[in-house]
Amino acid sequence: MSAADKPANSLWGGRFGAGPAEIMRRINASIDFDKRLYAEDIAGSKAHCAMLVARNVLSPEDGAAILAGLEQIASEIESGSFAFSDEHEDIHMNIEARLAELIGPAAGRLHTARSRNDQVATDLRLWLRNGIDRLDLAMRGLQQALIDRAVAEAETVMPGYTHLQIAQPVTLGHHLLAYVEMLGRDRGRLADCRRRLNECPLGAAALAGTSFPIDRDATAAALGFDRPAANSVDAVSDRDFALEFLAAAAITGTHLSRFAEEIVIWCSSEFGFISMTDAFTTGSSIMPQKRNPDAAELVRAKTGRLNGSLVSLLTVMKGLPLAYGKDMQEDKVPVFEAVDALELCLAAMAGMVRDLQPRRDRLRVAAEAGFATATDLADWLVRAAGVPFRRAHQATGEIVKRAERLGCSLAELPLAELQTIEPAITPAVYDLLDPVRSVASRTSFGGTAPESVRAAAQEARKRFLK
Ligand code: ARG
Repeated sequence: MSAADKPANSLWGGRFGAGPAEIMRRINASIDFDKRLYAEDIAGSKAHCAMLVARNVLSPEDGAAILAGLEQIASEIESGSFAFSDEHEDIHMNIEARLAELIGPAAGRLHTARSRNDQVATDLRLWLRNGIDRLDLAMRGLQQALIDRAVAEAETVMPGYTHLQIAQPVTLGHHLLAYVEMLGRDRGRLADCRRRLNECPLGAAALAGTSFPIDRDATAAALGFDRPAANSVDAVSDRDFALEFLAAAAITGTHLSRFAEEIVIWCSSEFGFISMTDAFTTGSSIMPQKRNPDAAELVRAKTGRLNGSLVSLLTVMKGLPLAYGKDMQEDKVPVFEAVDALELCLAAMAGMVRDLQPRRDRLRVAAEAGFATATDLADWLVRAAGVPFRRAHQATGEIVKRAERLGCSLAELPLAELQTIEPAITPAVYDLLDPVRSVASRTSFGGTAPESVRAAAQEARKRFLK
């Protein structure tokens, strides 16, 4: 069939003779992905229809027929019997075309005083608002898993790292609570985004508003928006809400991938800090001994999609003149992909946090390695012997060098060795070379001492899980 034989589009084809080329149809159609907006599209149409009836723009009879038709369409879509067609481009026109089949010419009155431009902007806001609410719950779930785990591991000593070099002993509970803080900020960013998102574009029409006596406050309220968007040009041009969401999602992805990377490292036989069950690992088809942390690796990798989604939409929007451009049809896939990826990652991380088994003996041994308590020794010299910190640092460095040369730990150095370097040292110093003593001493606010971790976990429950 040649392009010339195709019918022009029944919804906008008035001035068109021949239909679109096949390739035009394919590049233009968004139904394959925007069908996900069907529930929001129908909700928006119902609110618009009810408002038009209330404003005497539509007769009550037409209004009732439209509402009944929309309800039938919703159930057809939900039951899987609805025939989506790329002939009708997108979700808006698929629904309107079906409405015409169901109720006849009255269907054509629904589009009075609106345009697909305000319609799609409304749909996407509604869809993303739901997505944000689901993600907030998923983040809360991960925080819950982390806090529970932090309490259980409040006393579990492990090496803390900087530069991935052993730095100072910390508790595993404290380390896990760091992620609870990150997720708290992530949820804050989503909440900010949701607040700004919650304005209704409906009634902006194509870009200029409308001459019909519509009630934008009514449609905004019916759809749960705080208010109608103030400027009709902005209302149809704006995708800030999606960009803000994607930026927030990319940051969360960064947090999750850092955690995922730690899980991967901790699972390695070289570290051996944790083990995971069959639930979150896979085997190798060739190496029978393997147990791979695939879930963590995939969380780490999904960050690529999240970052990609942000860059993708920023690039679509950059340089677009006001108001609507068809470019903006490309806003949906990045938003859908980011919500899907993040939802999956958050659930997988929560599952892993509940599943992982810390190997406390290995963590403890590792915390004793690498002279992790050298700072405690320097601090002790300052506190107990009145040595200035810089000199204490220097002396401790020499002690570490000596231990290295003798191939022993700090705690294994004889007192005489210590005293040749720093005469102020007494046997009392041995107490704090133990990592358990070291973490117990870090009682400053926000520090790693077990009692502080338990208090912080309790606070975190109040702040995040109420
Ligand atoms: N499918 C379109 C989109 O997602 C709907 C809006 C079309 N508007 C237009 N003026 N062609 O953006």
